[in-house]
Amino acid sequence: MKYAVEVQDLKKSFSQQGKGKIKIIEAVCGVTFSVKQGEIFGFLGPNGAGKTTCQRMLTTLLPIDSGSAVIAGFDVEKNAHEVRKHIGYVSQLGGADLSATGRENLILTGRLYGFKREDVEEKVNKLANLLDLTELLDRFVRTYSGGQKRRLEIALGIIHDPDILFMDEPTTGLDPQNRANLWVQIRKLRENGMTIFLTTHYLEEADELADRLVIMDHGKIVAEGTPLALKRQISGDVIQMKLKGDGAAAHGIFEKLDFVNESRMDDQTVCLYVNDGAKALPLIFDLMKEQNIELDTISLSEPTLDDVFLKQTGRSLRDTGKEESQ
Ligand SMILES: Nc1ncnc2c1ncn2[C@@H]1O[C@H](COP(=O)(O)OP(=O)(O)O)[C@@H](O)[C@H]1O
Ligand SMILES: [Mg+2]
Repeated sequence: MKYAVEVQDLKKSFSQQGKGKIKIIEAVCGVTFSVKQGEIFGFLGPNGAGKTTCQRMLTTLLPIDSGSAVIAGFDVEKNAHEVRKHIGYVSQLGGADLSATGRENLILTGRLYGFKREDVEEKVNKLANLLDLTELLDRFVRTYSGGQKRRLEIALGIIHDPDILFMDEPTTGLDPQNRANLWVQIRKLRENGMTIFLTTHYLEEADELADRLVIMDHGKIVAEGTPLALKRQISGDVIQMKLKGDGAAAHGIFEKLDFVNESRMDDQTVCLYVNDGAKALPLIFDLMKEQNIELDTISLSEPTLDDVFLKQTGRSLRDTGKEESQ
């Protein structure tokens, strides 16, 4: 298997100047992972986890402190120029000129890459087709919706046919419909053979889109795998029960069961993590009958990536969004 990205023990710290004091922030504290060719690889983590810093090192925009990163077979430190030829990068801020049309943006970028005018024009039409931009090409970018602008930025990022496209939070700020639409476009790029490396703080996005992912927190990788393997390996199935009566007492009984790996209780809802939900349910029903525990509702579901994050960090990813700046 050839790897598109191979990262070994990558580190980066920043010194941040506060009131007279200089604070050292370890933004990326030794991460090791690899991305296979042709996959959508997700970098999931809350704001401040170190995702952007990591991507900026991999895309040669930021020097690394230590460790190594090989992108498309080239070392980011020793061969930055070659790395740049093989990658595209769509940053969080986006780089389109709002006062020009989509077509003008694309032609300028293509020309900057050194393509001949007629070749660029052909490329622009192809890309517009791929990313659903044809109707928009001759409008000023400032009139584009958020989703349309994002699609143009992706087109700008891949005009030179890179092998690997890095995207930083590609759907942040988009409504659910535009987000789902962008996921379709991103999958199309993978179908065309491109490797996609995207960062996100949306659980659903990583779950839906990524073939494999790492979960980052405070500059470290806390979990790695396919979304399914991560969810299975960490917690099996989740049984959620809303109880009538004394929930805490019932929780005390359930948490002692030997097939319950872990349990949580919020309000009247008891959440049990078990290896095999289908087998556990009848045993739980028997116990409830025996102990006179009354049930309001019960559901059996597969765990989400949030359960994985919670287990690894003790916090919910949904609650960490506002904790730190982007
Ligand atoms: N240029 C910088 N100077 C100082 N600190 C920075 C700089 N860039 C990022 N950081 C800090 O590094 C940490 C990781 O940031 P970042 O990589 O942007 O996280 P994420 O993209 O996961 O939200 C944060 O604490 C952030 O404040
Ligand atoms: Mg970021």
